[in-house]
Amino acid sequence: MNALIIGSGAREYAIGRALKADKNCERLYFAPGNGASEKLGVNIAIADFEALADFAIERDVKLTIVGGEEPLAQGIVDVFRAKNLAVFGPSKAAARLESSKAFMKNFIAKHKIPTAKYIETSDLNEVKRFIDELSPPIVVKADGLCAGKGVIIAQSAKEALEAASGMLSGDSFGNAGDRVVIEEFLDGFELSVFAISDGVNFIVLPACQDHKRLLTGDLGPNTGGMGAYAPAPLATNDLMEKIKTRIVKPTIDAARAEGMPFTGVLFCGIMVVGGEPYALEFNVRFGDPECEALMALLDSSAIDLFYNAAIGKLSEAKPRFSDKKAVGVAIASKNYPYKSSDPAPITIADGAESENAHILYAGVTKGANGELLASGGRVLVAMGLGDDIKSARDAAYDLIGKISFDGMQYRTDIAYQALR
Ligand code: AMP
Ligand code: GLY
Repeated sequence: MNALIIGSGAREYAIGRALKADKNCERLYFAPGNGASEKLGVNIAIADFEALADFAIERDVKLTIVGGEEPLAQGIVDVFRAKNLAVFGPSKAAARLESSKAFMKNFIAKHKIPTAKYIETSDLNEVKRFIDELSPPIVVKADGLCAGKGVIIAQSAKEALEAASGMLSGDSFGNAGDRVVIEEFLDGFELSVFAISDGVNFIVLPACQDHKRLLTGDLGPNTGGMGAYAPAPLATNDLMEKIKTRIVKPTIDAARAEGMPFTGVLFCGIMVVGGEPYALEFNVRFGDPECEALMALLDSSAIDLFYNAAIGKLSEAKPRFSDKKAVGVAIASKNYPYKSSDPAPITIADGAESENAHILYAGVTKGANGELLASGGRVLVAMGLGDDIKSARDAAYDLIGKISFDGMQYRTDIAYQALR
């Protein structure tokens, strides 16, 4: 079968790598892909959804997988479905679980899914009153999509009020800050839990932990994610059962009951406090770099999983995950996440990749002579596999020792929570 992947990051590269390893995958296309995805398939420069769907029809693409939240929030899945194309991802209506934090919080409250105490409002006086009821830290969130930057953990009531006021005035995030969510700070450990669903059935994947801060020791600004590993040993069977019955199942059931069945992958950002899980956020797509770790562990046909989910027959999918552990370390360009960086040639030692170590490419372009250039943002993810987390982590860092480019930066403590 021919497949099309929408996106250009290491997440999409990892999905492509898993599809490519599947004997049932024939031609693979990326829109737009990156400077390395042509190792796996063909990049196409089409952005318009109608034109992409027409391309899929023309090239006999039987499965399209949408990587990121932007096209989902803009309704790409609805456009593909209107042309009877099988597509992995949620409709525009269901994508509001990510694209509006206010919508998500109200959905979750209505369906009694455990979450942090909150208000959502566009009225600064209401913000003031609620902030007075809370003790710092206080969490302030812009309603709309802000590429991971719309959440402020304020250390005082004054800072919280300033953050909310900057959002509501439009100064901080434009229209995405027209409404804000103010919520209590939950102090615990975080898990990323992914459930693949066809709208009715769902399959929970091995739990991951992400590392959102830029610097080793969980310091510095928030980023898209500087590393992830799976399965997370903190996610005991008992805890996963609670997450499944209290968060995943009620969400999938309620979405269907509200006429917006959730199809694709539901990403539950979970905070665990005193052994009890709370839903901090939903995303309507895989995490990046969590996806890279999960795809490294997927031991069965990727087409079987994604295609059956896309056509509403998830009960026929039989995914298997390896007993190994996966640790992925993101390498970012010099100025990430503040501003762009000058393109820098990447050198990778011969034989750097092996059965236990591979590279997923993201912010790379091809230079004039076909050489690979680091072109900004997160450039690549070094993935290590091993029988335990420590050997997986060692494999990832060994691989990094064989990669170099000017200004490369990465954290040296990925998976520390599993190794304490
Ligand atoms: P979100 O985009 O809502 O997941 O928020 C981004 C990050 O902010 C999360 O991964 C958490 O680290 C942190 N965060 C969000 N909400 C809370 C909360 N209520 N309590 C503590 N930390 C939070
Ligand atoms: N790694 C977190 C995210 O993709 O949002």
